[in-house]
Amino acid sequence: MPIVEFRRDGEIGVIVVDNPPVNALSHAVRVGIMDGLTRAREEAAIQAVVIACAGRTFIAGADITEFGKPPKSPSLLDLIAALDDMKKLTVAAMHGTPLGGGFELALGCHFRVAAPNTRPGLPEIKLGLNPGAGGTVRLPRLIGPEKALRAILSGDPMPTKDALADGIIDEMIDGDLIAGAVAFARRALAEKRPLRRLRDMDEKLAPARVNPALLSELITPAIRRARGTRAPMACLEAVRNAVTMPFDQALKRERELFVELLMGEESKAQRHLFFAEREAAKVPDLPEGTKPREIKRAAVIGAGTMGGGISMCFASAGIPVTVVESSPDALKAGLGRIEKNYRATAARGGLTNEDVDRRMALIKGATELEAVADADMVVEAVFEEMPLKQEIFGKLDKITKRGAVLASNTSYLDINAIGAAAHRPADVLGTHFFSPANVMKLLEIVRGKETAPDVLATALSVARKLGKVPVVVGVCDGFVGNRMLRARSIEAERMLIEGALPQEMDAAIVEFGFPMGQFAMGDLAGLDIGWRRRKASGQRAEIIDALCELGRFGQKTGKGFYRYEGGARTPIPDPEVEALIVAISKRLGVTRRPIDRKEIVERMIFPMINEGARILEEGIARRPGDIDVVWVYGYAWPVWRGGPMFYADTVGLAYIRDQLAKFAAHSKDKNLEPAPLLVKLASEGRGFLSLGAKS
Ligand code: 3HC
Ligand code: NAI
Repeated sequence: MPIVEFRRDGEIGVIVVDNPPVNALSHAVRVGIMDGLTRAREEAAIQAVVIACAGRTFIAGADITEFGKPPKSPSLLDLIAALDDMKKLTVAAMHGTPLGGGFELALGCHFRVAAPNTRPGLPEIKLGLNPGAGGTVRLPRLIGPEKALRAILSGDPMPTKDALADGIIDEMIDGDLIAGAVAFARRALAEKRPLRRLRDMDEKLAPARVNPALLSELITPAIRRARGTRAPMACLEAVRNAVTMPFDQALKRERELFVELLMGEESKAQRHLFFAEREAAKVPDLPEGTKPREIKRAAVIGAGTMGGGISMCFASAGIPVTVVESSPDALKAGLGRIEKNYRATAARGGLTNEDVDRRMALIKGATELEAVADADMVVEAVFEEMPLKQEIFGKLDKITKRGAVLASNTSYLDINAIGAAAHRPADVLGTHFFSPANVMKLLEIVRGKETAPDVLATALSVARKLGKVPVVVGVCDGFVGNRMLRARSIEAERMLIEGALPQEMDAAIVEFGFPMGQFAMGDLAGLDIGWRRRKASGQRAEIIDALCELGRFGQKTGKGFYRYEGGARTPIPDPEVEALIVAISKRLGVTRRPIDRKEIVERMIFPMINEGARILEEGIARRPGDIDVVWVYGYAWPVWRGGPMFYADTVGLAYIRDQLAKFAAHSKDKNLEPAPLLVKLASEGRGFLSLGAKS
């Protein structure tokens, strides 16, 4: 079949797009649709046109790979203008996810019919854009500007029932969609239904014309969520224009806003992440056709912070899970925390109480390891101690059935050593969830040197079932995320000793775009975890360890790098902490000096990038984009800065190399010396992304 087929069904012309996987509006598709519309217009026997798609979805938007390349006509706007000019009835036959430009094309038709479970939406904001082909001007005319702005700001596909109730879908079609759409067109012709062009409708705009403040109120949470990005404001302006300007003027301005954003770094960063996320799930050396093992039952060992969250992930995905704890009390406490978390979500309206009951019924508690005997996958989440983990994996080898996947949630430890203890290293790998495990999207999948291909494929498949974004990484201390975090932490402590204060450093990093500074984050997670680990391995971090020795573990003790009043989570700078830091500087013979925000940011971020370069060189991460996905989904790196490796390219590797060399000379820390890969790329005038990325 050609990429766009035109066929006749009596007096109805049918345009069918077939451009797998998601029928994106590539140039060839646009040409094909335009040809179809021209034919329909010119052939006298044709009275109506249906636009439909083959495959899994109606057009899911513009072809993102064409963004940033010279535009080729016809543009999507040309297609929609042709629909506007059409004197014959037009029907969009939608299924799957008609998104972005695809939905905008459908809004250019007189009518829209849909298969069950069709979820239209305008996700442009997730790519740092506003809808750019009439979405902000037509949708408000159809469903009112408030609802339209809400949908545009969320970017999420709409529930089918809402799309139907709001009149986006004129009729649901059960059975053959194209046949149903053709029948609909025939009926509409017979009934002489007026050709309803959204551009001509404006009664839904009236309330917002009277009270334009209505729209501004919606934007505040979106701006907070978007942390400094420009797309939400552009969406607001475009929808506001739809209310206050004539249609064509608002459409023209929408396009200008779209093009401005498209050319900017923020959207480029978000497009990079779109492809990086999809790329990260691909493992080139996984033999083609490798089948994941079937996971019908899971088990989690340890019901602490992570084990509880991981068990929730399985239960929420409908997979029965057995949770094993070391004592009845610990088990009771762990199961209690799980239920409390679910009930809190239900209280906020995110789940029904029946959902909670159903999920809790899938979670079975036990205090004997033997209870995992029938599990197809076991995730160990006990204390971060190698001997304990090895002991458990040794037992799992005897208890679990052959073919069970044995995973560890370790944050730092050597998966190969854990695999060896299990005596079947091919079945072992790391599944590193992030806290809170039921919320955070990242899953670092740590591949041991003997992990079997189908075990890796199983972890990838389970990740998708749990709604996680998987990134496959290799074995090293701390894997990708925590290894880079450590580089940042060492330099952060050095700056505290040289003269900066926690609140100054946190403010600099929040201004950079992180939702929280690293010291406020440390207080939230608990400073004692790292302290205990360092004590066990004979290491020391001067300032954090001094705080812990004073019992300042963070929020849980009401004091850490900051103090917290009356159980509140707001960090308050504490003169006691300043005095302690100043005393440490003095003891170490350091004369304190003010450190400005630029230096703070560079010394926090560049060492991470340097470590990222080493991680790439060592093959721990396969692609720069993998590292970016880890940081965006696991550590809240600002999406509009595209991840550390993307950001490095925007700064320029030569500058980063030179700054790192200065930092290294200043601190005599060999780790800060620019990594060979960074030096090589910088000297060739290249960036990390030149190592391979789709965007
Ligand atoms: N352009 C180019 N490629 C696209 C694409 C698009 N709009 N949407 C998806 N793809 C590609 C993906 O990169 C992936 O390629 P790969 O197999 O080589 O990795 C493949 O299609 C399948 O995508 P997913 O793995 O994401 O498939 P899912 O079934 O999980 O999801 C989807 C399907 C919901 C359509 C999801 O792909 C998606 O959200 N796509 C983006 C939709 C979007 O943002 N559209 C708006 C574009 S901007 C626009 O239209 C501007 C307009 O206003 C002018
Ligand atoms: P935690 O201390 O909250 O929970 C550990 C649980 O394991 C405790 O409830 C303990 O009773 C239980 N346990 C200990 N020995 C056991 C045994 N033999 N059998 C059954 N249960 C046993 O620790 P947390 O934070 O949940 O960490 C668990 C693992 O996850 C560690 O390896 C940690 O490094 C890793 N991790 C922790 C993250 C975090 O932010 N807390 C993030 C990612 C990974």
